[in-house]
Amino acid sequence: MTDEELLNMAKNASNNAYCPYSEFPVGACILYESGNTYTGCNVENSSYGLALCAERNAISNAIAAGETSSPRKIAVYSPKTEKCFPCGACRQWFQEFAKGQNFEIILEDKNLKIIKYSLNELLPYSFNTDML
Ligand code: THU
Repeated sequence: MTDEELLNMAKNASNNAYCPYSEFPVGACILYESGNTYTGCNVENSSYGLALCAERNAISNAIAAGETSSPRKIAVYSPKTEKCFPCGACRQWFQEFAKGQNFEIILEDKNLKIIKYSLNELLPYSFNTDML
């Protein structure tokens, strides 16, 4: 599974977004060590604060499918912006499952070039299960 393929799956997932309030579709596709991939899109609600992000939807799909291997990377895409960075809550969700392992966030810039970030770059000094 190449980064381009992962990004394409995130793009396809963004077509399914339910976002009548923000009109900001987001798609995500997460790859696990097993080779399995899971997609998600954002799902909004008339009670605005209940919106579910694409990334957390993708992770929930993986958990619900019984995925037990470690997550390796996630592609995130919105047709409304270049480099659709994951929100803070989603970064903390990545942290929960990626643990200490290398986890990459794959985005597309305005020149349609793939840009990669490590979770450590996007969420340094994170709260984590070692502290509990
Ligand atoms: N959104 C995501 O799906 N992922 C993010 O990381 C940031 C924001 C969604 C939530 C809401 O439906 C819309 O984008 C606008 O905030």
